[in-house]
Amino acid sequence: MSSSPGSGLILGVPRETQVGEARVALVPEVVNKFTTLGHRVVMERGAGLSAQFPDAAYANVEFVDSAAEVFARADVLLKVQPLTPEEAAMVREGTVHAGFMQPHNNLAAVKILRDRKVTSFAMELVPRISRAQSMDALSSQAAIAGYKAVLIAANTLDKFFPMLTTAAGTIRPAQVLVIGVGVAGLQAIATAKRLGAVVEAYDVRSATRDQVKSLGAKFVETGVTAEGVGGYARELTAEEKAQQQEVLDGRIAVADVVVTTAGVPGRTAPRIISTAAVERMKAGAVIVDILAENGGNCELTRAGETVVHKGVKIVGPVNLPAQLAYHASEMYARNLYNLLNPALKGGALNIDWSDEVFAGTALAHAGEIKHEPTAKLLAG
Ligand code: NAI
Repeated sequence: MSSSPGSGLILGVPRETQVGEARVALVPEVVNKFTTLGHRVVMERGAGLSAQFPDAAYANVEFVDSAAEVFARADVLLKVQPLTPEEAAMVREGTVHAGFMQPHNNLAAVKILRDRKVTSFAMELVPRISRAQSMDALSSQAAIAGYKAVLIAANTLDKFFPMLTTAAGTIRPAQVLVIGVGVAGLQAIATAKRLGAVVEAYDVRSATRDQVKSLGAKFVETGVTAEGVGGYARELTAEEKAQQQEVLDGRIAVADVVVTTAGVPGRTAPRIISTAAVERMKAGAVIVDILAENGGNCELTRAGETVVHKGVKIVGPVNLPAQLAYHASEMYARNLYNLLNPALKGGALNIDWSDEVFAGTALAHAGEIKHEPTAKLLAG
């Protein structure tokens, strides 16, 4: 480490470089928490600007002109988007890194981090246990995606969401169907309800039935459940898929809006809406597919585009959390702080490797890949 013992570590935040990324890894409030622990923060000039945190909003931060300088000085490097191979090559040996890594899509960068003996904490690996909820960046960002997806749907639909009684007559409320009731789906249901729509929702996990009802929405019963390990869904059999499809297609056909959020971790998104199902929908109906970047839940989804098929609009947004960059950054920065705080108390670095959160979140450490699926991919 570059800092002498007791003088605190240097936390470094470069500007995010991925096209369309507006978030920043540290917001002023969270910088203060880290500096209170006795650490210093170095940021690249303008790193927070696109999230509405100009340099002047940060107290106790040293701003530098280049990402290279941040990488050269950081003991603890904080990012939102995965390190590119070029960035990984700039990380000093032995540095701690925390950020999303999507390791299966980023093996070249992961290899470099391993070889440079970087301790890399991949935010998508934070264990899904109660104690780690405050560190769970997948959840904080998914909630934003679910919220924003409904707003996009409302904006794209040429109908009202709420029921209205006006002098010009009564307006019927929009019918919204949410497919996938994880973190994003729950927020999508709540948002659509707040806007006054009539909401139905479906998930293969039967545990979601009560959650859907408690939000005042109706659960679509297909007779198929697919509880997997760790609270996630398993893949369905062909027969189960056909049964699920038949019932769902009927509900899709009557919906004004379908918001799809159905994911299976580590796999491309399951195909739930076929072209034939889209062709049964009403002209003007809207699908917002938040899995667009991961292959899409709808066969017609194109990431980053709005496809119009026989009058149905299929929106494939990318990086929804970046569209709400202020709060997305605030929540993400708090997730980072809650994760790293136990290791950074007392102004020094002290990672307790017997803690299942650190052990489970570590992608690489001391020249080894700690995440087994990634180690296998690298070996293969
Ligand atoms: P996700 O983004 O991987 O999937 C979203 C939803 O899609 C899931 O509910 C899944 O069951 C559903 N799905 C998958 N295939 C489907 C299909 N063919 N048809 C319909 N729905 C399908 O999951 P997310 O939102 O990251 O988390 C899922 C669950 O994990 C949570 O609801 C919760 O139970 C658990 N969790 C636990 C946490 C904790 O204890 N700290 C934190 C976050 C999540």
